Amino acid sequence: MTHDIAVVPGDGIGQEVTPAALEVLEALDIDFLFREAAAGDAVKAETGEALPQETYDLVASSDATLFGAAGETAADVILPLREAVDSFVNVRPARAYPGVDAVRPETDLVFLRENTEGVYSGHETRLSDDLSTLTRVVTDSASRRLAEFACEFVDDRGLDEFAVVHKANVMRETDGRFRDAVVDVADAGGVETQEVLMDAFATHVCLDPTQFDVVVCPNLAGDVLSDLAAGLVGGLGLLPSANVGPDRALFEPVHGTAPDIAGQGVANPAAAILSAAMLLEYLGHEDEGAAVQEAVEDVLEEGPRTGDLGGDASTDEVTAAVIDRL
Ligand code: NAI
Ligand code: MG
Repeated sequence: MTHDIAVVPGDGIGQEVTPAALEVLEALDIDFLFREAAAGDAVKAETGEALPQETYDLVASSDATLFGAAGETAADVILPLREAVDSFVNVRPARAYPGVDAVRPETDLVFLRENTEGVYSGHETRLSDDLSTLTRVVTDSASRRLAEFACEFVDDRGLDEFAVVHKANVMRETDGRFRDAVVDVADAGGVETQEVLMDAFATHVCLDPTQFDVVVCPNLAGDVLSDLAAGLVGGLGLLPSANVGPDRALFEPVHGTAPDIAGQGVANPAAAILSAAMLLEYLGHEDEGAAVQEAVEDVLEEGPRTGDLGGDASTDEVTAAVIDRL
C-alpha cells in the first residue's frame, strides 16, 4: 500500500531539516508517494498568502504530513494545518539522550496536549480601554477524545497509568470538566490516573522527572510544561512532535526557523528525523520507526554532532551518518 505524504518544508531551517528527514524516509524500503507544497513567509511574499489553498487541501487529503517550520507567519500556517488534519492531540515526547548535555539526563516523558480548545480557543474580546477578556472553552467531547487516545497510548506502551495535569481547584468549572471527563474515561478503560496540579507539576518534573511517563494536559499547560521539559533534556534541536487526528496526522520538529543559523547548512536535523520516526510508527511501520529512532540515538551519542550540541558537523553529515546506521 502506498502512503501519500505531504511535505511542507516552510521557511529557514525548515528548508534544511525537512529534506534531511525525507532522505531518511527514502532510504527505507517503504512505498511512499511524496508531494511537496509551499507555506510560510517566502510564499506569502510571493503570492500574498502564507498558506495557499492547494497546500491546505494537500495536507487535508494526505495520509500524513511532514512539516518543517514557518517564520513570522507561523500562527497563520500551523494552526490551520492542525485543523486540516482535525488534530485533537499534540504528542510531544521529551527525552534525554546519552551523549547530550541535559539538566535532567533521566528524563523520558511524553506529553499528550489537548490541541483544539482551552485558552487557545481564539475567543478574545476587547471590551473597553481598560478591559479585555478571553473565553476558555472546554468540552466534554474533546476531553474524552483526548482521554481515549491516552488510554490506547499507554496500553500500546505496556503501561497502565497516566498523569492528568489540571488546576481544577481554581478553575472548577472548566478544568473540573476536563479532569472529570479524563478520569471517567480512564476508569472505564481500567487505566489508573495520577492527578497533579499544574503548578506543582512544574516543580515535581524539575526535581524528579522519573515520576512521570505519560502526561495528559489541557492546551496551554501542555504547551508550557512541554517546553519546560525541553529545557530539561538539553535543547530544541532534539524535540519531535505529532499532531494527530482521527484519520491523518502532521509531524513537525518543535523548533522554529532558527533565523540565526538558517542558510548555513548547520541545523541539527535530529528533531525533524525523529518526527519522521513518529510518522513511521503512526503509519504502522513500528520496526522502521524504532530503527530510525535508534540510528539517531547512536549518532547523538557517538557523533558527528552539529554546532548546537558542541560539534562542527553539517546537517548533511549528520543525516548521512543516520542513514549509514540504518
Ligand atoms: P527557534 O526554534 O527558531 O530558535 C531558537 C534557538 O534554537 C535559536 O538559537 C536556534 O538557532 C536554535 N535552534 C532551533 N532549532 C535548531 C536546530 N534544529 N538546530 C540547531 N539549532 C536550533 O525559535 P525562535 O527563535 O523563537 O523563532 C524563530 C522563528 O521561528 C520565528 O519567526 C517564529 O515565529 C518561528 N517559529 C515557528 C514555529 C513553527 O513553525 N511551528 C515554532 C516556533 C517558532
Ligand atoms: Mg510552544
